[in-house]
Amino acid sequence: MSTTTAAAAETLEKIRQQFNEAPYPNIPLEQSPLEKTSDLYNHSLVTAYYRKTQKIVSPEGKMILDVGCGSGYKSLMLAGANPGARIVGIDISDTSVDLARKRLVHYGFDNAEFHVMNVEDLPDLTMQFDYINCDEVLYLLTDPIVGLKAMGAVLKDTGIMRVNFHSALQRRFYHQAQQFAERVGILNESKETSITLFREFMASLRPNVTLKARTWTASCESSDDILMANHLLRGDKGWTIPQFFEAMDKAGLDFVSMVQWERWNLLNLFADLEEVPLGVAMAMSEASPAEQLHLYELLNSTFNRLLDLWCCHPAAEAVEPVALEDWTATQWHQARIVLHPQIQIEQLQENLTEAVTTMTVTDLNQICPKSGTPVLVNGMLASCLLTLFKGPMTFSAILAQWQQIQPINLLTLAPTTLEEAEGSLITEVQRLVELGYLLAEQPA
Ligand SMILES: C[S@@+](CC[C@H](N)C(=O)[O-])C[C@H]1O[C@@H](n2cnc3c(N)ncnc32)[C@H](O)[C@@H]1O
Repeated sequence: MSTTTAAAAETLEKIRQQFNEAPYPNIPLEQSPLEKTSDLYNHSLVTAYYRKTQKIVSPEGKMILDVGCGSGYKSLMLAGANPGARIVGIDISDTSVDLARKRLVHYGFDNAEFHVMNVEDLPDLTMQFDYINCDEVLYLLTDPIVGLKAMGAVLKDTGIMRVNFHSALQRRFYHQAQQFAERVGILNESKETSITLFREFMASLRPNVTLKARTWTASCESSDDILMANHLLRGDKGWTIPQFFEAMDKAGLDFVSMVQWERWNLLNLFADLEEVPLGVAMAMSEASPAEQLHLYELLNSTFNRLLDLWCCHPAAEAVEPVALEDWTATQWHQARIVLHPQIQIEQLQENLTEAVTTMTVTDLNQICPKSGTPVLVNGMLASCLLTLFKGPMTFSAILAQWQQIQPINLLTLAPTTLEEAEGSLITEVQRLVELGYLLAEQPA
């Protein structure tokens, strides 16, 4: 049973009302996310488990919980991305739960169930989960740490949880808008009245007033949904990276990875790393993972609206996977290489075939965006990736193919040595594994 106080119960009731009036997201049943490669990729257990363990898991039979499932759009992504898994969705809003149920049925999924429930009451479900998706919910909870603990209580020891919080730095102007609307009573009104009042109020401001200049766009005039999800969102909160890590610590959870880890890569922020003053470069490279993420948000705060991450229970015995850059040649040779299942799609096959036949490059970022910068693959590598569509291969087998394709060194015209081929292929495969397009696994 939940331990909510009267004030917390009142806030919860307001949030329930808001999402009963406007279930989120407001996307018609007919609009399917099942062809959206990037979204399916982010909702795939394969992605999260590989980030944690460097192992490739099968979603078959896994238990997945979607906390604050809303109208079920993401529950549908979870079902689509994880064939054979069981999906359980919960939400405080009965209207949302009703829509979520209908959405999954509409797409023929009979492996899903939904419950109207407060996150704090999750242990009442008496189920344990391999994966918990809690997307765009934590920042609405009166006490997010209580929510984190409740989810931790139903997460299996080996499980992984995706949670996110609004970035206090990126969202600050919306938080200011919400505070203003709260203080002048606009948030106490019904949805329609609050939208009308807020639009009238914004129209009365001079254009150079900070809040108007930074947050008011044409879509705020045309879309009620945008206003409700931003300026007029009730209970919205923001954290910085250190605050998020402190909360995980209090809830007894360990950080695994950012969901879009490449969007948090400090190295991507520099035009030329050689130009970074040595002392600063050393301080950045020696910083802990949490500190590096914080440095990133201090430098580039408008880039990521969400602090979106995977976390887990602390391992009984910490067996950290060996970083790819430390793999020996033997480890590489015996590694099993797999093309991530979510990018094994026709479009990629076509693009790779074109790169091979025309000896040009293709951009993997067009298929599944990782950081906004192109991820170019040349004809040789494209040929190897095409072979991976037939199934996993050992690195050694790919190396043999690579040597067949390029038997001579194009600069010296001497036969390509094993060392040359191995060095080039390791660089290419490592780059694609770090970005998450390929998965490289050591034998059990
Ligand atoms: C912004 S929506 C996100 C919906 C969905 N997760 C998505 O990303 O599309 C937030 C959802 O969290 C639900 N919610 C808020 N507080 C909750 C609580 N204490 N327990 C369960 N659900 C809650 C709301 O009803 C709403 O449907």
